[in-house]
Amino acid sequence: MVYGLMWKGRFSQQTADLVQRYGESISYDWRMYRQDIAGSIAHARAQVKAGLLTKEEFSQIESGLRDIEKDIAEGNFEFSIELEDIHMNIESALTQRIGAAGAKLHTARSRNDQVATDTRLYTREEIDEITSLLGDLKTALLDQAEANAGVVVPGYTHLQRGQPVTVGHHLLAYVEMLDRDQQRLSDARKRVNISPLGSGALAGSTINLDREQIAAELGFDGVTQNSMDAISDRDYIAEVMFALALIGTHLSRLSEDLILWCSSEFGFATLSDAHTTGSSLMPQKKNPDVCELTRGKTGRLYGNLIALLTAAKGLPLTYNRDLQEDKEPLFDSIDTVKLALRVNAEMISAMQVNADTCEAAASDPLLLATDLADYLVKKGVPFRNAHELVGKAVAVSFDTDTPLDQVDLESIDSAYGPDAKDVFNLKLALESRTNPGAPSIANVKNQVKRWRQ
Ligand code: ARG
Repeated sequence: MVYGLMWKGRFSQQTADLVQRYGESISYDWRMYRQDIAGSIAHARAQVKAGLLTKEEFSQIESGLRDIEKDIAEGNFEFSIELEDIHMNIESALTQRIGAAGAKLHTARSRNDQVATDTRLYTREEIDEITSLLGDLKTALLDQAEANAGVVVPGYTHLQRGQPVTVGHHLLAYVEMLDRDQQRLSDARKRVNISPLGSGALAGSTINLDREQIAAELGFDGVTQNSMDAISDRDYIAEVMFALALIGTHLSRLSEDLILWCSSEFGFATLSDAHTTGSSLMPQKKNPDVCELTRGKTGRLYGNLIALLTAAKGLPLTYNRDLQEDKEPLFDSIDTVKLALRVNAEMISAMQVNADTCEAAASDPLLLATDLADYLVKKGVPFRNAHELVGKAVAVSFDTDTPLDQVDLESIDSAYGPDAKDVFNLKLALESRTNPGAPSIANVKNQVKRWRQ
């Protein structure tokens, strides 16, 4: 039996069944129960300070809420959609369990500041967890980058072979992206971690509770300064969902690279049996489903962000029920990204790089056409002319079906000397790429070291 709805006083009809089903959020916001309870305890403590609750009432409230928390954690709590959301489910159970003191809890508080508080606390925790999962994926990439720091592979633009890089350098590019993702989340966290509690429904309260005390107890860095903004602000959710969408973009690009690498056409890498699936029809197949799912799920992350931005864009101040539509997309983005990060870290760790295939692909002398132009530049030829001269050599290579490193360069132009052939030493070519950010093996190893610190 559920305790009655809190706002029923002026109503003479029951809420229609369909309206309850349409409007409930308990089926998904129940996951914020720990945050809701922490917020209520801090709020109650401030009420003691304000002389609104006795110490005895406070301890009844606190232990009542802790019991409820335990029951929910153990799956022994019955949620009711008649009570719409986590806030009313918990408050109602509390009053049912402890009586009068429970009925005092909601003084100087609204579900509007409550839901904003819960969501901020919940998001803060998830940011911390996602930041650490990003760290795990970075570590998996670093391990592979280190193990394959010297494996030369073509680098591509337009998916056409461009210049030589190493597998290590290629993978470290993703470490850079994931590091920026961590920075973005930590920046967003500053704006998430501000307490809206005390903003009431929209205009604060005539009863003054110590907002700073409540905020400090909940680990917030400060309190919001405008009650109307505090109630209707969902920027912090949008920011986090953008950061999650961008993580999706990065994982999706990584997926695409791995799908190519694992194709028979490339063959640069092999995913483990544990992270691939077969075909029910074609016995030979080993499919990179995890990569494809990651690429596909990125669409959901974008959709979730757009859903929130769209829900918020036409709302007059302050709270409108549309804002209840913030949580499902947020939760979905969080769940999706966490699982994606976990499975990708595992898959990358177990991935095998096929050094021989990589190096065979990188042995294409055309990858060093730019180096040949650089050689001419070092001989005093302006780069534009050097580019043209190498272009001619490439044309001869194609026309006569001769690999570029075997074309008689000296017969093309006197700028080419007998040492021009030295350009085609792949190891040397890589080793001379020592500028900061360039893919020399020494650079890659230093980057790995830097990231490890
Ligand atoms: N379930 C609501 C939400 O998630 C809580 C706030 C309800 N406030 C209100 N005035 N109806 O947004």
